[in-house]
Amino acid sequence: MLIRITSIQPERNRFSAIGRHGSRLTRHPMASMSSTLTVQHQTWQAFQPTIEQRLNSYMDALLQTKFSGASTDCPPQLQEAMAYSLMAGGKRLRPTLVLMAAEACGGEVESALPAACAIEMVHTYSLIHDDLPAMDDDDLRRGRKTNHIEFGEATAILAGDALLTYAFEILVKEVKPYTAAAACCGELAFAAGACGMVGGQVADLEAEETNWSKYEDTDQAARHLESIHRRKTGCLITCALRMGAHVANADQKRLEALDHYGKSVGLAFQIADDLLDISSDAVKMGKETQKDADHGKLTYPGLWGVDVSRQRAAALVEDARRWIQPLGENGRQLDALARYVVEREN
Ligand code: IPE
Ligand code: IPE
Ligand code: MG
Ligand code: MG
Ligand code: MG
Repeated sequence: MLIRITSIQPERNRFSAIGRHGSRLTRHPMASMSSTLTVQHQTWQAFQPTIEQRLNSYMDALLQTKFSGASTDCPPQLQEAMAYSLMAGGKRLRPTLVLMAAEACGGEVESALPAACAIEMVHTYSLIHDDLPAMDDDDLRRGRKTNHIEFGEATAILAGDALLTYAFEILVKEVKPYTAAAACCGELAFAAGACGMVGGQVADLEAEETNWSKYEDTDQAARHLESIHRRKTGCLITCALRMGAHVANADQKRLEALDHYGKSVGLAFQIADDLLDISSDAVKMGKETQKDADHGKLTYPGLWGVDVSRQRAAALVEDARRWIQPLGENGRQLDALARYVVEREN
C-alpha cells in the first residue's frame, strides 16, 4: 500500500500581472557582435544579460522585414503574446547550459547563442501550454498572469506554437556550420517531442488520474515517476548540454560526459521543483505553489517524502559533478550550476 503525502494547505496567491514586457532592443539578431565574449571567470548568472538581449532581438525581428523574409506578416498581438511570456524573466537555466557546455568544449558563447535562445523559446512554449486550463490550469507564471489569462486560450496556444516553430527557424538560419544546425534541430525535435517533453507531459497528466492500486509496489511507482520527470523536464535539459557540445564540435567523449551530466541534473531539477511546490511560495517562485498534491500529481515528495527526495536530488547532483570531472577547469561553471539546481530558492 502506498501513502501519498499531501502538501500544506494552499493559500492562493492573488497578485496581478506586473505589466507588459520591458523595453526591447532594436539590434537585429543577424548583426555580428563587436567583441568575443569571454566568461572564463564569471559566475553563471553573468550569462543572463547576454541571453536577455539576444532573446529581445529575436522578438523584435518578428516585426521587422529581414529575418523571416516574410515582411510584417506576424500579427502584432501574436508577437506581443510570445514576448509577454518569453521576456518575463525566468532563470534561463537551459540557455545557460547551452552556453556553458559550448565553452566547456572549447566553443564560443556567440556561436552558441542562437541555440541557447532556441531552447528557451521551446521551454517557454512548454510553460504556456503547461499552464492552460486543460493541463495544470495555472494563473501565475514568471510573476505575471499566465499567457491564456492575459491573451485568451486561443492566442496562448498559438503563441506557444509560434515559439516552438521560431526556435527551429533560428537554429536552421543561425547555427553554423550547417552540420551543427542539423544536429541541433535533431536534438531539439527529439527532446521536445513525443518521446521527450510532450510524452512526459502526457504521462504526467495521465498519472493524475491513476489509481495507486495500479502499481505493484513503491518501486514500480518510482520507476514510473522517474520516467515522467526524465521526459517532461530531463530531456530538454540534456538537450541543452548536447546542443552546446554540437555547436562547439565536441568529440564523442565530451558529448557523452555532458549527456550523463544533463540526465542527472535534469532529474534533480524536477525533484527540486516538486520540493519547492511544497516549501516555497508564489512571491519567491513567480508561480503558484502547493498545487501538486491537490492535483493528485505523482511527485517525489508525494511518493518518498521530503527528506528522501532531498537526498535523492543531492545524490543526483554529486553524480552529475562526477561525470564532468574529466573536463577539469573547463567544467568548473557546470559544476557550480549543478549545485545551484538543488540549492535554488525559486
Ligand atoms: C519550470 O521550469 C518548469 C519545470 C520544468 C520544472 P523553470 O523552473 O526553469 O522555469 P523558469 O524558466 O525559471 O520560469
Ligand atoms: C512542467 O512541470 C514541465 C514542463 C513545462 C514541460 P510542472 O508542471 O511541475 O512545472 P511548473 O511547476 O508548472 O513550473
Ligand atoms: Mg505540469
Ligand atoms: Mg505546471
Ligand atoms: Mg512543478
